[in-house]
Amino acid sequence: MTATVEFGKDLTGLERLTAEQITAILDVAEPFKEISERQIKKVPALRGKTIVNLFYEPSTRTRVSFEFAEKRLSADTVNISRSGSSLQKGENLVDTARNLEAMRIDMVVIRHQSSGAAEFLAQRIPSNVINAGDGQHEHPTQALLDMLTIRDNLGSLAGRRVCIVGDILHSRVARSNIWGLLKLGAEVAVCGPPTLIPHGVGDLGVRVFKRVEEAIEWAEILNVLRLQLERMHAGYVPSLREYNRVFGISEARLEKAPRDILILHPGPMNRGVEIDSHVADGPHSVILDQVTNGVAVRMAVLYLLAGGSPDRAEAAKQEDRS
Ligand code: CP
Repeated sequence: MTATVEFGKDLTGLERLTAEQITAILDVAEPFKEISERQIKKVPALRGKTIVNLFYEPSTRTRVSFEFAEKRLSADTVNISRSGSSLQKGENLVDTARNLEAMRIDMVVIRHQSSGAAEFLAQRIPSNVINAGDGQHEHPTQALLDMLTIRDNLGSLAGRRVCIVGDILHSRVARSNIWGLLKLGAEVAVCGPPTLIPHGVGDLGVRVFKRVEEAIEWAEILNVLRLQLERMHAGYVPSLREYNRVFGISEARLEKAPRDILILHPGPMNRGVEIDSHVADGPHSVILDQVTNGVAVRMAVLYLLAGGSPDRAEAAKQEDRS
């Protein structure tokens, strides 16, 4: 029942979305998956729309999958990164966006190192703004694709036990997952060194495990996060080797679990640090499925923010089909 769900101008995070809106995005992503399996991967849903992908931070998965999503919906797209643009000369975010709007754009997808940058921009320009990761705040499309991947494998998210393991403190992926999973009725836990668990996370209704063995005993799904060394300005862990010894997700640890555990990782992975290769490439890993789902989820978000109706998604994907 997605027909009556409405969306605002922007997607800056999952904190403010309702369970119905999140479910509608996942439901619209479902039929869009098939477009990427076609020989000609294109439908006209966003024909005539112009989208700027404004990436102030490095990205492989998010940037490429937004661009594929836009192209598969027939939008015109432009990519801007710090290197080679006037961002390097010190132009500020709003001036950059206003100059792009002077060229008549419709949407901005933004990744930025500062928490709140997407919301800041959304309040100042009329174009739709989609947050592709802002500092330590949110990465909504990552959490949506994580939820779609769990739903694909285990059915409903309600009542599922998901533990996010690793550097929770610096992680926008963790924050968006916590908001999204709780809204859809999952039980959520976090696990990591005390230095990397944010104060007050328990107040959100999230369990905290200090030992990864306890997390493995409890969870049906582990979402394993990398140590964000680029955001750490102090010694949060004694060493990467020590982190792997105490918190690394290894085959030996998973063999002691009372059930099979679905393994997610948003990437990029530090193999041998937070996750061992046998697990990352093992039978319960859905890490590459997450990447595949990323395109469909981003297509769904673009389609809905452009005014597409959730109950027209199936029809939209059939248009122009020979
Ligand atoms: N998961 C994720 O955001 O990966 P990228 O940094 O490669 O986009």
